[in-house]
Amino acid sequence: MRWFYKLIHRIVSKAARETFIARLDALNAAGHAISTKAQWGPRVEIHAADSSLVRIPDSAEILHDCWLIAHPGDKLQLGERVFVSQHCTISGDVSIGDDTLMGGFVSIIDANHNFERTDIPINKQGGEGIGIRIGEDVWIGAGAVILAGASIGDHAVIAANSTVTGDIPAWAVAAGSPARVIKYRNEEQREDPQDNIQ
Ligand SMILES: CC(C)(COP(=O)(O)OP(=O)(O)OC[C@H]1O[C@@H](n2cnc3c(N)ncnc32)[C@H](O)[C@@H]1OP(=O)(O)O)[C@@H](O)C(=O)NCCC(=O)NCCS
Repeated sequence: MRWFYKLIHRIVSKAARETFIARLDALNAAGHAISTKAQWGPRVEIHAADSSLVRIPDSAEILHDCWLIAHPGDKLQLGERVFVSQHCTISGDVSIGDDTLMGGFVSIIDANHNFERTDIPINKQGGEGIGIRIGEDVWIGAGAVILAGASIGDHAVIAANSTVTGDIPAWAVAAGSPARVIKYRNEEQREDPQDNIQ
């Protein structure tokens, strides 16, 4: 019977793959630039609004169960050789530089709900997205959350489960919630290491 389940699995996987590629073709016909040659894991979901732009190059690798979401007006762009591990969510106006990699269950979400008014529920107050910029050669540890307006410089490391709310400089290693710089990867290259800790 094992051969039977293997056969069914192969048929279902092939059909899912074809459906996914057809979805990419439709998105590309609508003006997006999403490579069908990138390494796509199973069950990746891409939601791209009409007036958004999603760019994924051939060299990107996106593991299973990731979600990429672009709302109207968003540019969601991955650089060359970006690696996205399983169960990540990348949502909004987000740019990620070349050679950046992230562990599983990372959330990069540029949206906030408005909550100033107290006379109506939060879900009636609308919201806004503030773009997120992630540089090149950044390593984002598993479970990290990158919030609206965050900016992460080239070559930085974000520790697992950290929450990035603001700017993390290039070459920094940042940890915690909110993430704070704990050291610099290149501190031996700097003239005065004491200047490195912010
Ligand atoms: C950040 C990390 C790379 C360690 O870097 P490191 O230079 O070896 O840092 P250390 O282990 O020496 O820790 C330095 C300090 O940061 C703290 N720290 C390390 N990781 C932390 C985290 N995830 N959250 C909060 N604090 C953390 C340590 O407790 C230590 O604090 P202390 O100086 O008060 O004792 C590692 O902890 C990490 O988060 N790795 C991510 C792993 C991962 O997600 N893998 C998925 C595969 S892509």
